[in-house]
Amino acid sequence: MGCIHADYEGKPVIAIINTWSEINPCHSHLRQRAEDVKRGVWQAGGFPVEMPAITLGETFQKPTTMMYRNLLAMETEELLRSYPVDGCVLLGGCDKTTPALLMGAISMNLPAIFVPAGPMLRGNWRGQILGSGADVMKYWAERRAGTIDREAWMQIEEGIARSAGTCMTMGTASTMTSVAEVLGFSLPGASSIPAVDANHPKMANRSGRRIVEMVWEDLKPRDFLSRASFRNAITTVLALSGSTNAVIHMLALAGRAGIKLGLDDFDELSSTTPVLANLRPSGKYLMEDFYYAGGLSALLKALASHLELSCLTITGKTLGENISPAEIYNSDVIRSVDNPAFSSGGLTILRGNLAPNGAVIKAVAADPALLKHSGRAIVFDSHNEMNARIDDPALDVDANSVLVLRNAGPKGAPGMPEWGNLPIPQKLLKAGVRDMVRISDARMSGTNYGTCVLHVSPESFIGGPLSLLQEGDMVELDVRQRQLNMQVSEEELSHRRAAWRPREGVYPRGYGKLFLQHIRQADEGCDFDFLEGTAPIPEPEIH
Ligand code: FES
Repeated sequence: MGCIHADYEGKPVIAIINTWSEINPCHSHLRQRAEDVKRGVWQAGGFPVEMPAITLGETFQKPTTMMYRNLLAMETEELLRSYPVDGCVLLGGCDKTTPALLMGAISMNLPAIFVPAGPMLRGNWRGQILGSGADVMKYWAERRAGTIDREAWMQIEEGIARSAGTCMTMGTASTMTSVAEVLGFSLPGASSIPAVDANHPKMANRSGRRIVEMVWEDLKPRDFLSRASFRNAITTVLALSGSTNAVIHMLALAGRAGIKLGLDDFDELSSTTPVLANLRPSGKYLMEDFYYAGGLSALLKALASHLELSCLTITGKTLGENISPAEIYNSDVIRSVDNPAFSSGGLTILRGNLAPNGAVIKAVAADPALLKHSGRAIVFDSHNEMNARIDDPALDVDANSVLVLRNAGPKGAPGMPEWGNLPIPQKLLKAGVRDMVRISDARMSGTNYGTCVLHVSPESFIGGPLSLLQEGDMVELDVRQRQLNMQVSEEELSHRRAAWRPREGVYPRGYGKLFLQHIRQADEGCDFDFLEGTAPIPEPEIH
């Protein structure tokens, strides 16, 4: 390695777990950020070692990055366990990388700092500002409707991702890096800094310095994580109108910390938490605007009356102390509790005979006219069947129909892909329809919008009620009453239940087989059953 004894003797060894990869455009700057972290570690008297870990690149990985979240969590934990390190800096940001790195670090419980990759710059096309994901869906619908041509579509593609960094709407990436910050894992303000802003490498440098201090202070994740800090994070996700994916990831994170958290916590807080971030896909602005407006610290200060400010963080200070210097510089981007973007509805938990263990909808990203709706179900048994039928002119569908996709849950797809934003049938697009009620046991990209009921639990693949729904059944959605029901008698359902037969799992061996055997349901966080909890793992005896 070319190191002399004095380089490392008596110094904390700091692992820099880096999810950089050429296949992941969101992390294309993380090689350099690892160097920025190292500079900080050296300056503070530590010994840095960069350790690559599997990347979870949202844009290319099949069937879905969610399939591999737990694998990265395992890799993180075992890297930290099996090598002689004293603390770690976690580099990630593209959707699942954040929860995965944190899950592993919480389980290992060594001093840890999370350095978020940071959002991309705003997109641009013919003078219009483009937002990741949300504008892909918007213009793809126009392309399918025939209102824009191929050349315009290619220009949009070239204009929508202008720099390194994660999606710059309030999608899963920015939601989860905000969660990491509120839980106390990142330096104040870190999650809002654009990836290519000069303040980003400075933040990485400061994180390198701080982790060395944390090792000497022996400040570990489970010293600062608490039920109160998780409820703060839920409140923040609601105030950001963040990604529905956060529900699953936060349940998994809490499970690793041994903290009891459930859908009821989301349900309780959702009715009282105002949406303060005016960010796409539910609002107007993008992450770059959010940063200039004061960033997450400013939003948290505006939200202070809804937060438990005494929670400890990696700075060694409380959340309240961290956010006290923050100011709002643009009150249209970051609203006050007296002038919220929406009074509530960041996320809503639904229950009923279609989802006895819960489902999720982001009501503020839906057509308000559809939030109380009943319609005939059009049922697709698989993603392939949906693709084959959705644009068939003979499909018996109208704007009031309810589109249903099943076998897309944790075990069904498998991996619970982001298929929950079912495409509007082409003939309805051409007639001007842009939103419909859609229901699935899948997830949806946090950058997407529409009246999409997601995470229906238990999933259809294991015989949840969604598996009993038949084409033509009436389905009722009532977001205000938090209800999702099918109008089918209990007697008829029991006949259908008796006739239901499970499908075969698709993996005869390998990681996929392990996944199918141990994955939990969405309302439990989709962790592997054998990774939950805080039971101590004994180190092997060395003779
Ligand atoms: Fe990586 Fe969206 S594709 S954050």
